[in-house]
Order: sequence, then C-alpha cells, then structure tokens
Amino acid sequence: MDLRIEALTPENLEAVLALPPQSGDDEPVAPTAWSVAEAYVQPTAWPRAITADGAVVGFVMANWSPDESEPAFRAGIWRMNVAADARRRGIGRFAVEQVAAEARRRGVDRITVLWDADHPRSPEGFYLRCGFRPVGELFGQRLGELRV
Ligand SMILES: CC(C)(COP(=O)(O)OP(=O)(O)OC[C@H]1O[C@@H](n2cnc3c(N)ncnc32)[C@H](O)[C@@H]1OP(=O)(O)O)[C@@H](O)C(=O)NCCC(=O)NCCS
Repeated sequence: MDLRIEALTPENLEAVLALPPQSGDDEPVAPTAWSVAEAYVQPTAWPRAITADGAVVGFVMANWSPDESEPAFRAGIWRMNVAADARRRGIGRFAVEQVAAEARRRGVDRITVLWDADHPRSPEGFYLRCGFRPVGELFGQRLGELRV
C-alpha cells in the first residue's frame, strides 16, 4: 500500500468530503466538511488528504500556532478520520507519523491531541497505541502528548 498525505485540491476535495462521519452521525470527530470550512478561516490549520494507492482513504488536520497562549493548541492533531472500510490497516498511525514529521520540520518537539475518552467509539486506544501519553483534561476531553 502506497500511503501519502496531500494538500487539499479541487481533484481530491469531493472524496475528502465523502469520508465519514457525515452530519448527524454520532462519531467522536466532526464531519470533514466542518474541518475544511474551519481551515478556510483559520490560517494555522494544516488539512491533508491521506491516500492509499492514489485513492483518498482518510483526512488529518493539524494546527501549527506557536504563539497560542494555551500550550495544548500550539502544535498537534486537530481532526483525523479514516474511511470505515480502511481502518486497522495502519493508515491512522501513518497520519500521526506524518504530523510528527511536519512538527520536526517546524522545530517543534511535541504534539498534542484532545480525544473524547467517554464516547462509545472513543479513539483513546488508537492514540495510546501510537504513543500519546495522557497528560490532563481540557474542555472535558483527554489531552494527550507525543514527544517527536
Ligand atoms: C481512530 C482512527 C483514526 C484510527 O485509524 P486506523 O487507521 O484504524 O488506525 P491504525 O490501523 O493506524 O491503528 C494503529 C494502532 O492503533 C490500534 N487501534 C486502532 N483503532 C483502535 C481503537 N479504536 N481502539 C484500540 N486500538 C485501536 C491498532 O490496532 C493499531 O495498533 P498496533 O499497530 O499496535 O497493532 C479511525 O478508527 C477513525 O477514523 N475513527 C473515527 C474517527 C475518530 O475517532 N477520529 C479521532 C478523533 S480525535
């Protein structure tokens, strides 16, 4: 499987917007359309399509905001979702590694993520397997940190 991350383009946007969850779905992450809209108004957002053998299989959005007063929002994963039929094949881990690599390129030595630990489909196990260490709570969500 040839995994890559790509900037959003007119060519891949439709497939990115078709990823789950869609509006109204009970998932622990916002629909991709929300993330794309937020990225439009939030210049610190770093949205990327994840492709496998040329097909979009996921989406990850990081945030790079070194001057942010809240340390948890300076560098990290803001959103991530993998197509339902592509999960458990290492795509999420690949996306975490790509965000970590981008952090290193930017001279950042840690990334953070917030997750809903109480949701029935919480991604907590995934983030722990990827090496994130729980370091606190913020806005009722668990805050995880990964040294990169
Ligand atoms: C969470 C999510 C991004 C994981 O993506 P994925 O491609 O299935 O993850 P990977 O296959 O790369 O898994 C990496 C490791 O985490 C483990 N893992 C994945 N999902 C897990 C889960 N729900 N619970 C426990 N472990 C999990 C895998 O077994 C694997 O472990 P290993 O490599 O040590 O064997 C995906 O399930 C998803 O999109 N979920 C819905 C949206 C969501 O919750 N997004 C995160 C919101 S912040």
